[in-house]
Amino acid sequence: MVLLDLVKIDLKKWLWIISIPTLLVLLTLGIFQAGEPAGFSAITGTVLLTLTLLPSMLMRLGFFKENPYLRWLVKYRKDLGIISGTWLLSHALISALFFFKRDESILNQLLEPPLQPVWIMIPILALMLITSNKASERKLGRQWRNLHSLVWLLPGLMVYHGNLAIANFEKEDFAPAIIILAVVILVAIYEFIKTRSYKRVLLILIGFITAVVLWTINNPG
Ligand code: HEM
Repeated sequence: MVLLDLVKIDLKKWLWIISIPTLLVLLTLGIFQAGEPAGFSAITGTVLLTLTLLPSMLMRLGFFKENPYLRWLVKYRKDLGIISGTWLLSHALISALFFFKRDESILNQLLEPPLQPVWIMIPILALMLITSNKASERKLGRQWRNLHSLVWLLPGLMVYHGNLAIANFEKEDFAPAIIILAVVILVAIYEFIKTRSYKRVLLILIGFITAVVLWTINNPG
């Protein structure tokens, strides 16, 4: 019963009520170089991005079409998109604050292999966030959809960045966010097989090829 009432919740309002104080705490941890705010912000942002992309894909494929929770998530997909962008950009800021803890120059740290894809990821997220309003939607017309399709470049780059960042900064060897991203990628591939609609899969592929190119440049021979 309690679960069923979930769909009556104004998700937009609660996403902000929960996110703003949490992000402020994470930012404070970043400023004082304490705890592990980088991992938490990255994973939460990835989960929110998945909640933005996955339910619409499942609906289009006809899965769980009548499921009230899925319909509820689809209804709030734009708000989820905005909040996921906010979390991921905050993750970038929070993680970057830890640059000050290290002896290396900030520019050198930004040029390290794990952070090279971030140069592509941050402008994409920022562009999408800036244009996530009715006025931009009206002004850009059809281009608005194309611009927001760029989100599909992110999964491949996030898998690459997440794994290298974990190995490089945290000395661990597996980024849990990959599991969630793998689900999104697999469902997008399945949608392509079923519908032959290739745009999303093509962009995912371009993201992966970019990651492979970066990997090859950093590991010659
Ligand atoms: C200056 C920018 C950035 C810095 C310095 C940075 C740094 C880091 C660090 C240190 C980690 C390891 C966190 C851990 O302890 O688990 C990490 C993980 C990750 N980051 Fe970033 N990041 C940046 C930007 C971004 C952006 C823009 C995105 C998304 C679009 C992103 C997505 C991820 C993901 C998915 C992980 C893996 C999380 C996990 O599975 O634990 N990062 N990043």
